[in-house]
Amino acid sequence: MKDLNDLFLHMLKDVYHAEKQLVRALKQMSKKATTPELKQAFETHREETIGQIERLDQVFEILERAARGVPCEAMQGLVAEAKEVMEEAEEDSVMDAGLLAAAQAVEHYEIARYGTLIAWGRQLGLNDAVKLFEATLAEEKKTDQLLTQLAEKAVNQKAA
Ligand SMILES: [Fe+2]
Repeated sequence: MKDLNDLFLHMLKDVYHAEKQLVRALKQMSKKATTPELKQAFETHREETIGQIERLDQVFEILERAARGVPCEAMQGLVAEAKEVMEEAEEDSVMDAGLLAAAQAVEHYEIARYGTLIAWGRQLGLNDAVKLFEATLAEEKKTDQLLTQLAEKAVNQKAA
């Protein structure tokens, strides 16, 4: 990688792969979650994530590059942690609290990545791509806030 263009493209591919992994993971997480609001939050964000992948497809088009991911080890690790919860939680309430925490780690990772893509995109003058990233970033932040509310309202108390 020689310049910001190269870094930008690499991060785009990384996030593309991450979002695709997340669609699969959220399906499993919504199956395993027991609190209805949490199940719904995972399902809603799964649908949003499919839309986010479409936005990334559009960014690849803007760049006139093939839409292709590179393995995102960070997301692989975060998904592995969620799987660990799914395998090891012995109580419904523990499952929910563990899955919620795993999902929040994912959102924070994505918020960091999209924040960087927006900053780099601005620097590179890719204004249409920046708008697409901003739409996705708003969804990630909203999801993070919803998860915080669910944790405070229901999930953590039950697990305690
Ligand atoms: Fe996302």
